[in-house]
Amino acid sequence: MTASRRTFAIISHPDAGKTTLTEKLLLQGGAIHLAGEVKARGQARRARSDWMKIEQQRGISVTSSVMTFERDGITFNLLDTPGHEDFSEDTYRTLTAVDSAIMVIDAAKGIEPQTRKLFEVCRLRSVPIITFINKVDREGRACFDLLDEVADMLALDVCPMSWPVGMGGLFQGILDLGTGKVSRPEGGSKEFLGKVDENVVLPDDVAEEIELAQAGYPEFDLEAYRGGDLTPVYFGSALKNFGVVELIDAIARFAPPPRPQPTEAGPVEPDHKEVTGFIFKVQANMDPMHRDRIAFMRLVSGTFKRGMKLTPSGLGKPIAVHSPILFFAQDREIADSAEPGDIIGIPNHGTLRVGDTLSEKNQIRFTGLPNFAPEILRRVALKDPTKTKQLRKALDDLSEEGVIQVFYPEIGSQWIVGVVGQLQLDVLISRLEAEYKVEAMLEASPFDTARWLKGADKALDDFAAFNKMNLARDRDGDPVFMAKSAWDVGYQQERNPDLTFSATKER
Ligand code: G4P
Repeated sequence: MTASRRTFAIISHPDAGKTTLTEKLLLQGGAIHLAGEVKARGQARRARSDWMKIEQQRGISVTSSVMTFERDGITFNLLDTPGHEDFSEDTYRTLTAVDSAIMVIDAAKGIEPQTRKLFEVCRLRSVPIITFINKVDREGRACFDLLDEVADMLALDVCPMSWPVGMGGLFQGILDLGTGKVSRPEGGSKEFLGKVDENVVLPDDVAEEIELAQAGYPEFDLEAYRGGDLTPVYFGSALKNFGVVELIDAIARFAPPPRPQPTEAGPVEPDHKEVTGFIFKVQANMDPMHRDRIAFMRLVSGTFKRGMKLTPSGLGKPIAVHSPILFFAQDREIADSAEPGDIIGIPNHGTLRVGDTLSEKNQIRFTGLPNFAPEILRRVALKDPTKTKQLRKALDDLSEEGVIQVFYPEIGSQWIVGVVGQLQLDVLISRLEAEYKVEAMLEASPFDTARWLKGADKALDDFAAFNKMNLARDRDGDPVFMAKSAWDVGYQQERNPDLTFSATKER
């Protein structure tokens, strides 16, 4: 069963065409029947929840969801990542739950900043990448230019798998470099509707380009792709449906099935009998009337059955998973069973946290789901000082959910939040108001960066004696050094060789 799962995400810079491609992938997979449904459904869903106003205002999607479709006996799990330039931890965490990714690039723009950042996250985890160069129905940059840019900027081998026959006004289709067949535009809209020509005589300039391309780039090598050293490149147009089926085929044929996940005692293989998984995302208050939360679990091993008892590592006592949710594009369906690689949503009241391992025997702990180093720190000030208790509760909840990180200084009552991107701060303010009825302001923080401290009790105590002003506790009560600058961190690290100063925290 495991071999028939492909769990992947699409990474791209805003506007490159991720939504359009998602829609076309789901259409091909039979998950939806009308183009336009992804956006329309998204809007309907957003309208339901107050705090998501912010998404509407900015025309962005802050939350990720999971879409599942099937084709030729393979189940594809597509994990959506927020596409705003101002990424959040959510995006990063989602990438910890996939086995591969599609990188969408706008043919007129090439690699853009967000593409690059997300690519770096994939590289950190050796997530293999298939590249889709989109919008060739419009005038774009020269193919060689684009291929070389991917190769140079991302330090990857590139292997073109298809080639556009002309671009923009001269666009005549896409040549499959493997089969020599050309997919043709048809009708007034010049879409791909299934017309494929064989033995096509190509214009001289195109034939020459292709010859150069085939001589100039390495051949496809499955191992190099899976190791994250080579990316196969497909040209296409999501809008006009070119290259979409090829992309699905490529994921089916090349993308890795569910991979083992690391623990301190060695990796857990997908064919390990016990049901295990980890929470990579928690979405709270989807319905403001009910304080419900959905924890998204990626199944790592075993066959999950509804009603099963699993023990979350953060809790220590088992919970029965009675109404797990599988995310189909059309609807959320109650899952009866799930296989490694699948994502299930587990409704709960705050017991499940990002980074938790769930397992039958409670002996396994997955590693490698980091909290990201907060890059922006802000002091939270209340407009109404009597709301301190509500604020504390809200900050605890939201940090649990991974919206922000929170630091409670040992001295003073000015709580500090840390985020990776500005957008998270907007979400914080908006949700404090909508869900907790707390009006808060964010002020400059006296600190510039935070480091989690680890070391023997004695070393920690000695450090605390001299640095009380710079010590805080996080949501879990773990000690954090609040530094005025990176220099400060370096200085303290040098003076306290028995302590580690870590920019991220692994649960
Ligand atoms: P995103 O999710 O990555 O942000 O991109 P999205 O799919 O929303 O696409 C951004 C814009 O690019 C949209 O146009 C979309 O129609 C267009 N687009 C996507 N793929 C292609 C393609 O293959 N060829 C061409 N020519 N355009 C493409 P828009 O005008 O901003 O939005 P809309 O009003 O058409 O929805």
